[in-house]
Amino acid sequence: MRILVLGGTVFLGRAVAQQALAAGHDVTCAARGSSGNPVDGVRFVRVDRDDPASLDALAGKFDAVVDVARRPDHVRHALASLAGRVGHFTFVSTCSVYADNATVGQRVDTAPVLPPAPRDAEDPEKDAEAYGACKVSGERLVTEAMGADRAFICRAGLLVGPEDPSGRFGYWVRRAARGGEVLAPGTPDDAVQFIDVRDLAAWIVEAGERGVTGTYDGMAAPVTRQEFLAAVLGEDAPLTYVSQEFLAEQKVEPWAGPRSLPLWLPLPEYAGFMSRDVTPSLAAGLRPRPLATTARDTAAWLAGVDVGSAPDGRSIGLTAAEESELLAAWHAR
Ligand SMILES: NC(=O)c1ccc[n+]([C@@H]2O[C@H](COP(=O)([O-])OP(=O)(O)OC[C@H]3O[C@@H](n4cnc5c(N)ncnc54)[C@H](OP(=O)(O)O)[C@@H]3O)[C@@H](O)[C@H]2O)c1
Repeated sequence: MRILVLGGTVFLGRAVAQQALAAGHDVTCAARGSSGNPVDGVRFVRVDRDDPASLDALAGKFDAVVDVARRPDHVRHALASLAGRVGHFTFVSTCSVYADNATVGQRVDTAPVLPPAPRDAEDPEKDAEAYGACKVSGERLVTEAMGADRAFICRAGLLVGPEDPSGRFGYWVRRAARGGEVLAPGTPDDAVQFIDVRDLAAWIVEAGERGVTGTYDGMAAPVTRQEFLAAVLGEDAPLTYVSQEFLAEQKVEPWAGPRSLPLWLPLPEYAGFMSRDVTPSLAAGLRPRPLATTARDTAAWLAGVDVGSAPDGRSIGLTAAEESELLAAWHAR
């Protein structure tokens, strides 16, 4: 297959390129080259999607295209240039398109989505709140331009694994390496949901090969927090579960950022965010690997680089000192 990745200089785009190369495909990646480097073995075409004319550099026909764009105008321009000469189009969307984050166990075919972004509010870099709505717009543009028989809309969940620049999953992997009593947020039964970036990438490449179309969630089935922490930190890790009310009182942030606990979200407001029913995705070929493998490979990658963490270690998660103070306060309350 001749495959074009619009992106391909970071995390998922690089993983798609790697999987496609490994499957023997001819891979082109198109980006500015400012987020990182494409993987060895691809043809790299430098384009800046802010300037639609730069897409002219992408000549010829492609059997499959994968687009990770966040901005609807980028998608619009790509479709104007490519729709007539590509076979299959994957648009990488997000579970942030969903309108209801509270209801547990929703499925792609029935869950309500946000309205698309208004034309004058299409830049999620200027307005982070617009991210989900912009992806809804992108999904619609792709489905309209390609037709339902050539469009694969993949709503990714939290991406984890090697090369993750966000540091969210990495926080727990690094925490495993430090040892000692671990502050665990919420309860052992809380749902946690994610996908190894390599498994999503493999499914996207396979979707192009097999002509899978339609709209799917791109994430593994949820696990409990207990299962998650046991797989990442080890079965015997000394966990102390701390209530979300205590964490809120202590100004610990959910999900990401300094003084946060990644992969933790307040309940019941976000009970639906990491508890999606992904039966249709698994039936359509998504094959998540065991979490312990993802954790092991992420640890090996983190051992060689320093990402997802500012030099003072405060860009994501709790510092060792913050965690100790919080545990002491929890035990003393
Ligand atoms: N990370 C998560 O947990 C998560 C969760 C849900 C959904 N998602 C979705 O999953 C996808 C992740 O994709 P990713 O990791 O490959 O990349 P990403 O972080 O979305 O990066 C965007 C890619 O597009 C390129 N790009 C950005 N602006 C450009 C421009 N003006 N012209 C040309 N290229 C441009 C970037 O390359 P250059 O900067 O080098 O140009 C980069 O390769 C995204 O669609 C995201 O919305 C992610």
